[in-house]
Amino acid sequence: MYVDGTVGSGGHSSEILSYLPEKSRLICLDRDPDAIRLSHERLSSDHRVQLVQANFANLGRVMQELAIDSIDGILLDLGMSSYQIEKSGRGFSFNREEPLDMRMNPDHKPTGEHLINTLPVKSLQALLREYGEERRAKPLARAIVRARDKNPIKTAAGLAQIIEGATPKSRQPWKRHPATKTFQALRIAVNKEMDNLETFLRKIPALMAAGGRLVVISYHSLEDRQVKKAMVHWEKACICPPDFPVCACDKSPTFTRLFKKGQKPEQAEIHNNPRARSAIMRVAERMSS
Ligand SMILES: C[S@@+](CC[C@H](N)C(=O)[O-])C[C@H]1O[C@@H](n2cnc3c(N)ncnc32)[C@H](O)[C@@H]1O
Repeated sequence: MYVDGTVGSGGHSSEILSYLPEKSRLICLDRDPDAIRLSHERLSSDHRVQLVQANFANLGRVMQELAIDSIDGILLDLGMSSYQIEKSGRGFSFNREEPLDMRMNPDHKPTGEHLINTLPVKSLQALLREYGEERRAKPLARAIVRARDKNPIKTAAGLAQIIEGATPKSRQPWKRHPATKTFQALRIAVNKEMDNLETFLRKIPALMAAGGRLVVISYHSLEDRQVKKAMVHWEKACICPPDFPVCACDKSPTFTRLFKKGQKPEQAEIHNNPRARSAIMRVAERMSS
């Protein structure tokens, strides 16, 4: 019983299926209805596949509805899909004249446009700092508020121009577009990405069979830190303060990490697929409890 928690356009799922025996099942989730439609075209002819539009934070509920007790392997490939960046028309990429929507599930609120035009300057600054790890959060938040006071910010390209205009020319040539971190921060906030990952990581130990493997691919340090912290915690046999004479926590390890370090793609892979350049993969195996 396997789960692809972020099926996207089904690339990983197709590959996973090529390794799975006839009698296995692969449950494919995505919160984006377009991803379910696209991967349906690619995967639905395989009798082992079941596609469900759902947030991976709600995996427990999905398993209950499908009468599944436990799973033997699960993959999360976090972040945005190439489809979302290039074809969704939802303003994920900063060089496009698209509405600043940024929702992975268009049924949910808020939109990026709503947040960027309504958050008080201090909250904008905190959002850029926390979710974008943007060192210039204060001047950028102020520039956004100055601009929206004249005209509401409606498009991805419009927001990117404001950030460009507020970036000192001395910083050119840019290695990365100066709006990269702003877009990351806004997307994380719109989709509550850190909350979903936290909920998932809190619940997953109870959902996996002994020997089952959890694989998470992250694309920025905030996500990777959260995944690493959870895996390190699961692996510990004791979480008592170091000055306790005897263990009083009653904890036992629930997972063991397959690699202590996050795995990064090799140069050849980055060359073929530049979007893989920031990927970090971590793998942990469920122990019997
Ligand atoms: C990097 S793409 C996955 C690409 C996929 N591995 C493939 O081979 O095509 C990330 C996908 O995760 C989905 N996603 C992000 N957060 C999610 C969540 N909390 N629950 C379910 N899907 C999510 C996005 O909608 C997007 O389609």
